Amino acid sequence: MARSLLALASALPAVMALNNGLALTPQMGWNTWNRFGCGIDEDLIVGSAKALVSNNLTALGYNYVLIDDCWHADSRDPDTGAPVENKDKFPNGIKGVADQIHDLGLKVGIYSSAGTYTCGGKFGSLGFEEIDAKTYASWGIDYLKYDNCYNEGRAGTPPVSYERYNNMSRALNETGRPILYSMCNWGEDGPWNFAVDIANSWRISGDIYDNFDRYDVRCPCTDMLDCKLPGFHCAVTRILDFSAPLGQKAGRGHWNDLDMLEVGNGGMTFDEYVTHFSMWALVKSPLILGNDVTDMSDDTKTIITNDAIIAVNQDPNGSPATRVWKRSLPDGGDLQLWSGSLVNNQFVFAVLNTGTSNHTEDISLIDVFTDQGKSFGSGTFTLFDLWQKDDSGKWGKNIGDFQGKVSVTVGAHQTKVYRATPASGAKRAVDEL
Ligand SMILES: *[C@@H]1O[C@H](CO)[C@@H](O)[C@H](O)[C@H]1NC(C)=O
Ligand SMILES: *[C@@H]1O[C@H](CO)[C@@H](O)[C@H](O)[C@H]1NC(C)=O
Ligand SMILES: *[C@@H]1O[C@H](CO)[C@@H](O)[C@H](O)[C@H]1NC(C)=O
Ligand SMILES: *[C@@H]1O[C@H](CO)[C@@H](O)[C@H](O)[C@H]1NC(C)=O
Repeated sequence: MARSLLALASALPAVMALNNGLALTPQMGWNTWNRFGCGIDEDLIVGSAKALVSNNLTALGYNYVLIDDCWHADSRDPDTGAPVENKDKFPNGIKGVADQIHDLGLKVGIYSSAGTYTCGGKFGSLGFEEIDAKTYASWGIDYLKYDNCYNEGRAGTPPVSYERYNNMSRALNETGRPILYSMCNWGEDGPWNFAVDIANSWRISGDIYDNFDRYDVRCPCTDMLDCKLPGFHCAVTRILDFSAPLGQKAGRGHWNDLDMLEVGNGGMTFDEYVTHFSMWALVKSPLILGNDVTDMSDDTKTIITNDAIIAVNQDPNGSPATRVWKRSLPDGGDLQLWSGSLVNNQFVFAVLNTGTSNHTEDISLIDVFTDQGKSFGSGTFTLFDLWQKDDSGKWGKNIGDFQGKVSVTVGAHQTKVYRATPASGAKRAVDEL
């Protein structure tokens, strides 16, 4: 009984997603906003696209080059109402930029808001969905990030938010061009419930801030499931807390978006950025770089090129890791265990320490395999530490076979990530159900 129900459940998710064939694994790329804000132009964007290629980031999957806010002219075309770009910043138009990005083998995205203005005060798309979508398609756009500023109060209940965001979803579909639809409504009205079949991803919270755990009154919610003011300046550990109950809502073609990455922007330590990158990957958030990719430190490159962590994010199973437990530590921080399953009877788990001192803990493998059952979790597993390199220099060092428990030491603000596979001779998960 249990087995057939599970088999059925795993066959379902693809059916419910937005039917545009995109984002079957979380989208990856680079966006202008976190680092450059409104200070963007053609040279910056095309130069960054070239840097993605020359740094081999595109080979790792970072394929979308995303133009965020402030590409706009002061106003729309007065005759047609069509959106117009700022000709000083984009002398060849957005189309000219898109052509150059396509020539590099990459895809290109643009930004607007489901409101009268964008968050940067430019013209928004509310009431202009069709002409905007058509214009984007004619420019060769492959991706739309769609914000929530100046929404004229058309929010507050799921049906109203749904209708407003669905108006753009339909307009994009009607262009006939597959355009990845990335909703950015800050989790308002619970998009994980209402947007599954109209968007490829939805932001779950207020904007990220380049900080590990600082409380900021502008990110006032403690629980996104009951949040009236998503705010912004949300630290990494807070967004992760918000995401903890939402894993079940995401899957192939429809993802929880924890917001763009801050790795490389300078507000966090190496270990904190490792935590940020690892956890975004495990919960299957889009991985959108937000740093200056033309000028990166070796530490930044080390983090964003860890292909073992990226493989977890891009696992075809599309199953977000969930938090098994969160325990208070004596130093005021907490220790968290997250686990998830991958294709081919592989699993991933992470141990995260938000405290300020080193901590060593025996992690129970029965806890890790909560979803697979006690009998399965009692088996022997080969573990690979995904932040250590093996002898051949590849990420993912075999640290041995374990049964029952594994002792894990995690430094302050650090995360350890392990891939687990049943040791040879062990039964497959499905046999144990
Ligand atoms: C538009 O929606 C229909 C129905 O879901 C789908 O079959 C089609 O692929 C979509 N087209 C685009 C371009 O997204
Ligand atoms: C990119 O990959 C190529 C081929 O593997 C390699 O020769 C080159 O050094 C790499 N470049 C960078 C910047 O890592
Ligand atoms: C959706 O579009 C329709 C038709 O243009 C419009 O009447 C309606 O007000 C829009 N809904 C929202 C919530 O913006
Ligand atoms: C934590 O562990 C690391 C690595 O073992 C060590 O270098 C560091 O000094 C330790 N820090 C503290 C505060 O004990």
